[in-house]
Amino acid sequence: MAAPKSGADVRRIAVIPGDGIGVEVTEAARQVLDAVARRHRIPLAYDEYDWSCRRYLTEGAMMPADGLDRLRPADAILLGAVGWPGVPDHVSLWGLLIPIRRTFRQYVNLRPVRVFPGVSSPVRGARPGAVDLVVVRENVEGEYSEIGGRFNRGFPDEMAVQESVFTRAGVSRIVDYAFALARTRRSYVTSATKSNGIVHTMPFWDEVVAERAAEHPDVRWDAEHIDALAAKLVLQPDRFDVIVGSNLFGDILSDLAAAVAGSIGIAPSANLDPTGTFPSMFEPVHGSAPDIAGQGIANPLGAVWSAALMLDHLGHPEAAAEVVSAIEACLSDPATRTRDLAGTATTREVVSALLAQLD
Ligand code: NAI
Ligand code: MG
Repeated sequence: MAAPKSGADVRRIAVIPGDGIGVEVTEAARQVLDAVARRHRIPLAYDEYDWSCRRYLTEGAMMPADGLDRLRPADAILLGAVGWPGVPDHVSLWGLLIPIRRTFRQYVNLRPVRVFPGVSSPVRGARPGAVDLVVVRENVEGEYSEIGGRFNRGFPDEMAVQESVFTRAGVSRIVDYAFALARTRRSYVTSATKSNGIVHTMPFWDEVVAERAAEHPDVRWDAEHIDALAAKLVLQPDRFDVIVGSNLFGDILSDLAAAVAGSIGIAPSANLDPTGTFPSMFEPVHGSAPDIAGQGIANPLGAVWSAALMLDHLGHPEAAAEVVSAIEACLSDPATRTRDLAGTATTREVVSALLAQLD
C-alpha cells in the first residue's frame, strides 16, 4: 500500500542505504542533511528501507513486490549503493536501481565532476579548481534496453541480439535539459556521438541535437565522437562544461570523469525526473565497496554531495551550496581526507569536520 502523500512543507525522503559502505555513507549523509536542514529550517522526514542484497539472500528479492508504490509518494529518494559478492550484479541492478529509474521516469542522470583544491588527480593536466564539468546521461532508453534475446543456446551457432532504442522524445528532452543546464554555467555543450560507426541511431541522435541546439542559440555547442572525446577528457578535462550522451556513452564518460577528478569516493549523481511527477533519486557514483565495508574508512563525500544535489532539487540552493562549501573545506585539509585520497581520516572524522563547518 502506498504511504499517504506528504504535507506541503514536510519533505519526505525515502532512504535506501543498501549494502556495504552504502550503509555507512548514507548514515553520514543523513547527519549532514540534518545539520543543514536545522540551520535552514527545512523540515525533512525519513522513511528508511532495508532493500539490499542482504534482503535478497534471505527473502529472494531486492525489494518487496509493492516497493515502487511505497517510494512513489516520496519527495526524493536517497540511495547508498547496492551489490554484494554472491548476488550477481545484474540481479541487484535490475531488481532495484533500474526499476526505480524507469518507473519514475528519471530520464536525466546528472554527474557533476570537479577537481577540488587538495585532491590530486592522476591526470597531470587536471589542475584543482580548473576542472568543473557535468555529464548529462540519458537514463531510461538507448543501449540499455530489454529488447533482444538469445538464440540457439548451447549450440556452436549460439547468438545474442540487443537492440538500442532512441526516440525523438527521449533524445530531445535530454538534450534540452543539457542546454538549459549549460545556460546556468559556462554555456557550452558537447554532444557525445559515434555517427561514423553506428549508422542508424547515432546520426539520428546528431540530427536531434542539432535541431534542439538551434532552439538555444545563446549556448555554444559541438559534437565529438566518443573515442576522441574519451581521450580529450583525459588530456584536457578543463575544456568541458556540459557533456551530453546516450545511456552507455554517459555511463562510461561519467566514471572516466570521476576518475580524472581524483577519487570515485567523491563523485555524486542525481537521477532526475525534471517534470517533478515522480520522485528523483540521489546516490553516490561508487558501489558498495566490499573490500573496505565495515571498516569505517569509506569516503562519505560522494553521498554527502549527492544529498546536496537533492537539497538543490527540492528548492534549497543555499543549503546545497553550504554543503558543497563544507566539502571543499574538508578536502583542503589533509587531516580530513580519507584513505582513497591518501589521507588517514575515518568516515566519522570527515562527518565531524563537515558538521563543524556547517555550524
Ligand atoms: P565500488 O565503487 O564499490 O569500488 C571500487 C573501488 O573503489 C574499491 O576499491 C573501493 O574500495 C573503492 N571505493 C569506492 N567507493 C569508495 C568510497 N566511498 N571511499 C573509499 N573507497 C571507495 O565498485 P565495484 O568494486 O566494482 O563494485 C562493488 C559492488 O558495488 C558490486 O556488487 C557492484 O555491482 C556494486 N555497484 C553498485 C553501484 C550502485 O549501487 N549504484 C554502482 C557501482 C557498483
Ligand atoms: Mg556506471
